[in-house]
Amino acid sequence: MRLSIKTKQVAGVTSIVGLAVVVLSGFYLASLARIRLEESKSRGELLANAIYQRAREAVKAGSDPSVALREDGGLRSILESSAYSSNVTYAAIVDVGSIVIVHSDRARIGQPLPPYGDLDALLERGPVSQLRAIYTDGGRTLEIRKPLLMGTAEFGSIHIGVSTLLVQRDLNQSLGPAVLTALAILIGASLISILLAQLLLRPIHVIRSGLTRLGQGEFGVVVDLPQRDEFGELGDFFNTVSARLSADRPSPTQPLLLGTGEDPLEDAVAIFNSDGKLLFANPAMRATLPPGPPNPLALSVHALFPPSHPYRKAVEESMTSHQSRGPLSAYLPSLTTDRVDENGLPAPRERLILTHVIENLDHRLAAVMLVARNLDYMTQVRSSFSYSQKLAALSRLSAGVAHEVKNPLNATVIHLELLKQQLSSSDLPLAMEHLSIITAQIRRLDEVVQGFLRFIRPEDLRLQPVSIQSLVDAIMPVVAAEAAKHGVDVAVDVPNDLPVVNVDAGVLQQALLNLALNGCQAMTQGGRLRISAAAVRGRRVEVLCEDNGVGIAPEHLNKIFDLYYTTKEHGSGIGLSIVYRAIQLLDGEIEVQSTPGRGTIFRVLLPQA
Ligand SMILES: Nc1ncnc2c1ncn2[C@@H]1O[C@H](COP(=O)(O)OP(=O)(O)O)[C@@H](O)[C@H]1O
Ligand SMILES: [Mg+2]
Repeated sequence: MRLSIKTKQVAGVTSIVGLAVVVLSGFYLASLARIRLEESKSRGELLANAIYQRAREAVKAGSDPSVALREDGGLRSILESSAYSSNVTYAAIVDVGSIVIVHSDRARIGQPLPPYGDLDALLERGPVSQLRAIYTDGGRTLEIRKPLLMGTAEFGSIHIGVSTLLVQRDLNQSLGPAVLTALAILIGASLISILLAQLLLRPIHVIRSGLTRLGQGEFGVVVDLPQRDEFGELGDFFNTVSARLSADRPSPTQPLLLGTGEDPLEDAVAIFNSDGKLLFANPAMRATLPPGPPNPLALSVHALFPPSHPYRKAVEESMTSHQSRGPLSAYLPSLTTDRVDENGLPAPRERLILTHVIENLDHRLAAVMLVARNLDYMTQVRSSFSYSQKLAALSRLSAGVAHEVKNPLNATVIHLELLKQQLSSSDLPLAMEHLSIITAQIRRLDEVVQGFLRFIRPEDLRLQPVSIQSLVDAIMPVVAAEAAKHGVDVAVDVPNDLPVVNVDAGVLQQALLNLALNGCQAMTQGGRLRISAAAVRGRRVEVLCEDNGVGIAPEHLNKIFDLYYTTKEHGSGIGLSIVYRAIQLLDGEIEVQSTPGRGTIFRVLLPQA
């Protein structure tokens, strides 16, 4: 049988009290028995003394002591009155042969007195024997004896009989109230122990229900045990464990976290309370926290971040202004080493930071949620994504190529037919014209095929530190010639101390040339082409190619990088495709901003060497 703690506690307390009551009652009973027996003894001794005195007086005068005793009226009345003395069952004088001379019961005179136990002997024994003697069935008769002397010779003895039955009755009478008291004490003790158990076990019930809730998958379970004792400590400990469990709960993206502890696609999220204490941080946020104590929960934003940290600034601003902040871009150290700086340390990552203010119903600040998105990784993902889009487009390109190749070929065939006819009629100048058209068409065909091949076949890249200045210098003669054709001024603004970039010089030179040529070609009425470069955040170099030409209509912006997209009469539509592909291969980025009628800016971002 399984006993509850409460039952055990009540049973324990009750049995301890019960045992104490039984032991104490035993002592009480034993000493009461002794007192009663001693009382009987002294009463018997008193009677024996009175009989002794009287017997001596009666015998003094007479000749036969037995006759004298038997005939003494005073002695008889003493003996008979003994019947009224409590506990005394008889009083007698017997001769040396134990034959009764006088007896409180006259009928016994002349008979032998049966041998009874000695009360003195019982009084010398222990309490258990005494109680046993008192409680024997029917009781026992014990005697107080006193020798009766005649001069120096003993001629008989006085026997006072005492029944233990009477002592037993006495004891039982005083035992009743004692048992009632003991019972009352026992009941009281049980009630008190039930109450105590209730009080003592409450914390255990509270913690048990907390554990049950945790077991059911609830998070953030808190138990309320305010007392300052071991249970209070247990409650605090439970709350700490519960908080840790809540913080460590598996997120749906956990498998991604196994390698680095940081899922680059997961937003880092933290929640601070109105005092700036951290209430929650997801694994992605924990991975970005500066090194500190193992459990950052309950630490303040001041303790977690240095004053200039963008997270701290954003959270503090939101706390003072009660307004959500961001998104702001910031570069923060990363724990992952897939990209490293020149010292081999993890490269900082660009993050988009925003805060969201959470208010109470009465519009007081309740918490600030901080979200940081890993932008670098988003960019990588986006560029890989569009790269795969380009790859998918390749299959469709084949059809386009076939079409493009067929047109010039058809034209070539027709003109060759015409050439034959012309030659046969010997009209030479016309024949020459057809021949030049054929040549141009064949050249165009060659351009298309070359461009196509350049686009689909990844060049063998040789990445090395290259100075932008040297590349711009190299393309300048071609650009200047094109600019002169369109009456365009060219301005170059590349600082001397610009960091070198890690690129393939040939690939980047081709890309920059295409951008510059397009810029010149966009300025049909003349204008200014500006090529500039600068170092920017994230260890990158930015190259701008600006013109104030015709611009690009917004609806065409997403097409300009497509292969064969051109708006020019003799355009090939290959230039920007090559630029896009080159920048991709160099792990760079390209952006375009254009206002129709005002001009266009191409922005290329390249990694520093
Ligand atoms: N700087 C620019 N200003 C205006 N439009 C431009 C500029 N650069 C490119 N474009 C547009 O993008 C199209 C594609 O350019 P590109 O791929 O170089 O092919 P192409 O120069 O042979 O036309 C051009 O036809 C033009 O419409
Ligand atoms: Mg072009």
